[in-house]
Amino acid sequence: MTGTSVFKPTAVQKKALELLGSGAKHILLFGGSRSGKTTILVIAIIYRAVRYPESRHLICRLRTKDARSSVLHETMMPWLKKIVGHRRFKLMVHDNYVRLWNGSEIWIGGLGDREQVDKILGHEYNTIYFNEVSQISWAAINVAYSRLAMHIPGCRNLFLYDCNPASPMHWAYKVFIRKIEARTDTPLAKPELYASMILNPQDNADNLAADYISDILDTMSDKQKARFRDGLWVKAEGVVYEKFSEEMLLAPEELPERFDFVTAGQDFGLNITNVKAGWVGNTVYLIADYGAYNVPTRTFNETLEALGWYTNEDGTEAVFPTYCDPAGGERIQEIRGGVKANNSVDPGIDYICALMERKQFFVSTACTGVLQEIADYVRDEGNQIVKVNDHFMDAMRYAIFSQVQYGIICS
Ligand SMILES: Nc1ncnc2c1ncn2[C@@H]1O[C@H](COP(=O)(O)OP(=O)(O)O)[C@@H](O)[C@H]1O
Ligand SMILES: [Mg+2]
Repeated sequence: MTGTSVFKPTAVQKKALELLGSGAKHILLFGGSRSGKTTILVIAIIYRAVRYPESRHLICRLRTKDARSSVLHETMMPWLKKIVGHRRFKLMVHDNYVRLWNGSEIWIGGLGDREQVDKILGHEYNTIYFNEVSQISWAAINVAYSRLAMHIPGCRNLFLYDCNPASPMHWAYKVFIRKIEARTDTPLAKPELYASMILNPQDNADNLAADYISDILDTMSDKQKARFRDGLWVKAEGVVYEKFSEEMLLAPEELPERFDFVTAGQDFGLNITNVKAGWVGNTVYLIADYGAYNVPTRTFNETLEALGWYTNEDGTEAVFPTYCDPAGGERIQEIRGGVKANNSVDPGIDYICALMERKQFFVSTACTGVLQEIADYVRDEGNQIVKVNDHFMDAMRYAIFSQVQYGIICS
């Protein structure tokens, strides 16, 4: 090895390394942009791969192409060359992994790309590092959990996470800061296994261009400064459902006892989601939601059935239309009551915004999927919807707007 002294951690990066050895199993580094979060976690993985021969480690983010450009090429390759030496590792381009002379492997992949998922989740690992988790669904993280199962004597397996903070409704805030389960909001069974730390650009000033903080971060809007400079969990800029507020939240027992009718919306994809809505006149109540990751449509529908999705309180069958992502093709037939949804995005969003404005939109606190996405569902500078973390948002729109457009009523 060329030597580990070529890497000089900043003071907070040193603390982050200590946290990795603290006994926690899940470690999140959050904070502003360019504060050294990704670097220190990649370095930690390189150290682990070097120290434990034949060990295997996974670094994943939402998209493979982003994992390759920002993690593999910008961060990992330069440090591997310095720390390990370029002759002692090999990049296996098509398989997306790096193999070290000692038999250790570091895999890179995207949890949001179907062709990647089976490949990366087909192995067992000693470390799984979820990069930029603000973009990754809780369902996907949970599926990956089962893959941290490789056994190498002496090596304590770890889950690592990093992100720029999202809204305080994001699962990462719930799990790491509030220490509650993301799906049920109940206290974590073993909170001591979850640790987090904030790193901000100021902490990494020595490694940044002199004007990065003063000319770029300091000149951002207040909301952006809060997130990207100060690392705070605050509402994003450009939020689509800006009008959504806490007053629209209802405990399940506060929902109306009877609805005029019920509809549901179904989104397909690696993240598969369903949102169920009850209607009283023109007022919409989101009753329940459910999401899963990388499961066949049929299995997903069977789970809905087992959850009582299609059963009334008195045990009779609940019959209602489920408006499905039109791109679902034949999968639509596998969903009970499945019909094609209307997929006009902007009119659908406008309709829901108008419901919120008229106080005709309520969400049960049981809808933890919708609630985890709604505050982070945003438009970019070009006013385009950011297609990230939007699985429940699409299903919700199908459930509501298709009903308005098509008006199928079942009882
Ligand atoms: N200990 C370090 N030594 C040298 N450069 C570093 C160190 N830590 C971070 N950097 C550099 O700082 C910049 C931002 O780091 P990065 O890890 O990408 O931040 P973040 O993931 O928090 O956005 C990168 O150019 C990276 O190479
Ligand atoms: Mg980063």
